[in-house]
Amino acid sequence: MDAGEQTLALTSNGGLPMVIYWGARLPDDEDLAQLAASARHDLTGGMIDQLPALTLSPESGRAFAGQPGLICAEADGTPLHPVFSFDRAEHSACSLSLICSAMGLTLAHRITAQPTGVFTLQTVLEADRDIRLHWLAAPVLPAPQAADTMIDLHGRWVREFHLNHVPWAPGIRMREARTGRSGHEHPPYLILPETGCTNTSGSAFALHYAWSGGHRMVAEELPDGRRQVQFGATTGAETQAKRRFETAELVALHSTIGLNGIAAAFQRDTRDRVVKWPNPARPRPVHYNCWEAIYFDHSLADLSDIADRAAALGAERFVLDDGWFGRRDDDTTSLGDWTIDRTKWPDGLQPLIAHVKSLGMTFGLWFEPEMVNPDSDLFRAHPDWMLGPVDQVTGRHQLVLDLSKPQVRDYLFDAVSAILAGHDIDYIKWDHNRLLPVVDAAQSHGAYDLFDRLRAAHPGVEIESCASGGGRIDAGILARTHRVWLSDCIDAEERLRMQHDAALFLPSCVTGSHVGALHSHTTGRALPMAFRAWVAAQRHFGFEMDPRKISGADAAVLSEVTAWYKANRVWMMAGTILRLDSADPTVTSEMQLAADGGRFVLFAGQNAQTVQILPRPLRLTGLDPAALYRITLRNAGDAPPQSRGPNALKNGPLTLSGRALMGQGILLPVAWPATMWVVEGERL
Ligand code: DGJ
Repeated sequence: MDAGEQTLALTSNGGLPMVIYWGARLPDDEDLAQLAASARHDLTGGMIDQLPALTLSPESGRAFAGQPGLICAEADGTPLHPVFSFDRAEHSACSLSLICSAMGLTLAHRITAQPTGVFTLQTVLEADRDIRLHWLAAPVLPAPQAADTMIDLHGRWVREFHLNHVPWAPGIRMREARTGRSGHEHPPYLILPETGCTNTSGSAFALHYAWSGGHRMVAEELPDGRRQVQFGATTGAETQAKRRFETAELVALHSTIGLNGIAAAFQRDTRDRVVKWPNPARPRPVHYNCWEAIYFDHSLADLSDIADRAAALGAERFVLDDGWFGRRDDDTTSLGDWTIDRTKWPDGLQPLIAHVKSLGMTFGLWFEPEMVNPDSDLFRAHPDWMLGPVDQVTGRHQLVLDLSKPQVRDYLFDAVSAILAGHDIDYIKWDHNRLLPVVDAAQSHGAYDLFDRLRAAHPGVEIESCASGGGRIDAGILARTHRVWLSDCIDAEERLRMQHDAALFLPSCVTGSHVGALHSHTTGRALPMAFRAWVAAQRHFGFEMDPRKISGADAAVLSEVTAWYKANRVWMMAGTILRLDSADPTVTSEMQLAADGGRFVLFAGQNAQTVQILPRPLRLTGLDPAALYRITLRNAGDAPPQSRGPNALKNGPLTLSGRALMGQGILLPVAWPATMWVVEGERL
C-alpha cells in the first residue's frame, strides 16, 4: 500500500500478516516476492528453530519472545493463547482488511491509505462467545533499527508537549496514561527518528493513537534485536466480557525529509481529514477569552466594557468562560447545573450577547459537561450518576459523571442543547478539569456520543477541547472539535517552546494561542507586548488579558499584530509549519510556508540571553533552491539600542535564492531576550 510518499508492504505465511517493508515509497515495479524474501532473518544458537514472526499482532501462542499484541481470556478467566490462521483479505482502492481466525475468534487488521499521506490502522477482535480482553494492540509495526533514540512526550499542567529523547536498549519503553484522558502526562504520540535525523533532513517514523481515554504504548527491542511498537487503550479499560472489541485508529507515517516531513503530514491530516469544519472557508476568527481578565467575577457592565475594548483591538469572537451558571462564584460549586446564574445575569446572557454582536463579534460559551460538583443541584438529585467509588477523593472539588449511562448523556444533551438553542452561540469551550477516578473505555465512548449528538443538533457550532489546558489533545477528540487549548500557560516564553514542539503534530488552525497579561498568571514573568503578541499570532490568535489594563502603546502594538494576523491567516492556516534547526539554543525558530510555496513567514524567537556575541546564521528550509525570494524583516523597530551595525535586514528587503537561504542562511540583528523577529518572504 502507498500513502503519499510512503509504502507499507505485508505478507502472510498462512498465519497473521506481518510488515515486510515500511518506509519511503517504493517504485511501482518493485518485486514484492523478492521484497518478502529479503525480509527473512537468519537463525543462530539460543533460538528456537523458527523465528516467531513479528506480525500485526504478535502471538503468545507462537513463543514470541516479546509483548504479545493480544491478551485475552475466557469469560471465566481461563487464559487464551490463540494461534491464528490467515482467512482472507478484503480490499478497496485504498483500504485493506486482513482477516484471521482461531478458537472461535476473528482478528481483523484494517489499514487505510489516507489521501493526506498517512496510514490509519485498526484492529477488531470478534468472538463467538463473551470473552475478556486485557490488551489489544492496534496493528503492530516494526520500529527502525538504524536508530539510537525515540522521541515521546510528557508534560504537566502549564508545561505541555515536552519532548523526551529516550535511548533504545534491549527491553521495553512502556508508557501508560491511566488518568482516563489522553492527558498532559503521556500524550499518545511517538516519533522514531533514524540516526542523524534533524528537523530538516533524514528519515523518521511517527505514530499517534487517536483515542481520548488514555493509552498504553510499548516500544520494545526484542532479545534478537528486532524492534516493535504497540499502541492500544490503557490496560483494564475494557471492564466487561463481550463479543466485540476494537482499537482506536493508529495514525502512522514516514518521512524522508526529517521531522518536518512528520510535522507536515500530521498537520495536513489533522486539518484536512480529522477535523470536521462547520465552515472550512471561514478564516479563523480572533478570539477574546475573559478567563484571565475576570475569572468568576461576572458583571454585564464590566464585560460590556471589556467587549468594547476587545473589539476595538480586533477581536472577532468573544468567549465567556467559567462562572455564568448555577451559583458558580469559585470552583467549588455548580458543575452540572447548566442554568444561567440570575444573581450575576438578572436578564440572562442575552444583553451581553446582543452587545457582543453589535460590536461585530460572535459569542462563545464555556461548559464542562462531563463533571459535577458535590455542591450542585444535579448531584443532590442524582448522587448515583457519578463515576467511580463513593469514597473517592475529589479533583478541583469535582466528581465525574458516568457517561456510560444513557440517562446522564440525555440530561447533558438537553441541558447544553437548551442553552445553545436559546442563544446566538457559535462556539463552545469544552473543559475537562479532573483526572478520572477509574479507567473505563465506556466513559470515553459516552463522551464521544455526547459530542456527536450535540454536533449533529448544532452543526454550526465550533468546539474547543480544553482539559486544564492541554490535557485532551488527540485525533479522537479533534474528530469532534475544532481547536485545542494547548495550555493554561500563556507566558509567551513558555508558549513559544510549547508551540514549537506541538507543531510536530498539530496544525496552526487548531492550536489556540492567546496574548496574556504583562505579568503571566502562571509564571509571574513580565514580557513585552510585541513578544506576547507575535508568539500568539503564530497560531490561532486571541487575547486573554484585561484590555482595561493595557497601555496605549501596548494597545497600538497589539492592534498592529492583530491586523497582520488577519491579513495573513488564510494562507498561513492552509500552509505548513516547518521547524528550523537553529544553531543557537536560545533561538526557537520556524517557517510557515504557503501551500503553493509562493510566500512564507519566518519567526525567530529569542527566548534567553545568547552566549555568543553575534547571532548565528539561520538556515531556511522548504524553498525552491533555484527560485529567488524577497525577504523583509517586518519588525526592525524591535531591535535593541545595542544593535548598532549595518545588518542588511534592518534597512530593507534582500533578494536571495532558495539555495543561498537554505545553504548559508540569514543573519538577523542582535536581539534582547523576549524578541520575536518576523521575516516575510515572497517568491519572485
Ligand atoms: C481550566 C481551563 O484550562 C481554563 O482556561 C479555564 O477555562 C478554567 N478551567 C475555568 O475553570
